[in-house]
Amino acid sequence: MELTSIVDGTSAQIADAGDLEALDALERSSIGKKGELTLKKKELGSLEPDARKAAGQALNEAMRALSDRFAERRSELAAAAEATRLASERLDLTEALTEIRRGHAHLVTQARDRLEDVFVGMGFTVAEGPEVESAWYNFEALNIPEWHPARGSFDTIFVDLGEPEQVMLRSHTSPVQIRTMENQKPPIYIVAPGRTFRTDTADATHLPAFNQIEGLVVDRGIGLGDLAGTIESFVHAFFGHEVKTRLRPSYFPFTEPSAEFDISTADGGWLELGGCGVVHPNVLANCGIDPEEWQGFAFGFGIDRLAVMRYQLDDIRELVNNDVRFLRQF
Ligand code: DAH
Repeated sequence: MELTSIVDGTSAQIADAGDLEALDALERSSIGKKGELTLKKKELGSLEPDARKAAGQALNEAMRALSDRFAERRSELAAAAEATRLASERLDLTEALTEIRRGHAHLVTQARDRLEDVFVGMGFTVAEGPEVESAWYNFEALNIPEWHPARGSFDTIFVDLGEPEQVMLRSHTSPVQIRTMENQKPPIYIVAPGRTFRTDTADATHLPAFNQIEGLVVDRGIGLGDLAGTIESFVHAFFGHEVKTRLRPSYFPFTEPSAEFDISTADGGWLELGGCGVVHPNVLANCGIDPEEWQGFAFGFGIDRLAVMRYQLDDIRELVNNDVRFLRQF
């Protein structure tokens, strides 16, 4: 066969080779050790010296040309194989991003943060106290002596430490009033949000571990009007200006007079939010503050209840079930 037609035929086959294996096989059979052209080289010996030289040169050139083509095609095939591998290993990160959901603060935490913001905006600072309390802070200093019937109504969870019924999980945030007045001279303007505990069985409106926020103001010439105004400002800031507030006479040992405060609902009714009143002189005196010189008011209400009202939940237990389908909605 003519050398040029061998070269052309092989070149066409090289271009057609679909993978590296096919290319290698073709290379072996053409310019490999036992390939067609290599064998042709061995046949040169039978030619005349002049003819042998010319034929030898032509053959070498042809082999070199084919060898170049093999190399070229080999790198093409390698690049294609690499591209295929990369495509198969590619991760679609945009898909992953749309799948990932960021978490956010629990709705009780959101309510607590907003409450703090509103009160800080009104000039209050945020105070804290321990969750495990003594009978002095949880009851006695708040004008609830051992014999007082109100003590039973708190459904206290006692801690088995020291004298019986002297150490407890705080049943309200009011002990933070005492701790603050012990450590700070008036004027005092604080709110104290935190966890509180009672022996209640969880149901649609109760949790044994819940959250309250306490407020305390001690200053000169403070009265019921300041209390009503503060509650109204806070309710407007938290719920909106269309919501009204009212105080109803009530009883708490640590305030005199005492009231419960309600907020108006869209359907014309009222919802009870918490308790409040003018700080009882005994409470001020228990903290070394002269009730002749200083007066104050206090209030306290449930933060979980507030979240239930604000988001119109049917069951307060949703707040602690930790069902993300529920939590994601807020
Ligand atoms: N500590 C009361 C409770 O848990 C709520 C309360 C009522 C707090 C009147 C106050 C207050 O500061 O003045 O039921």
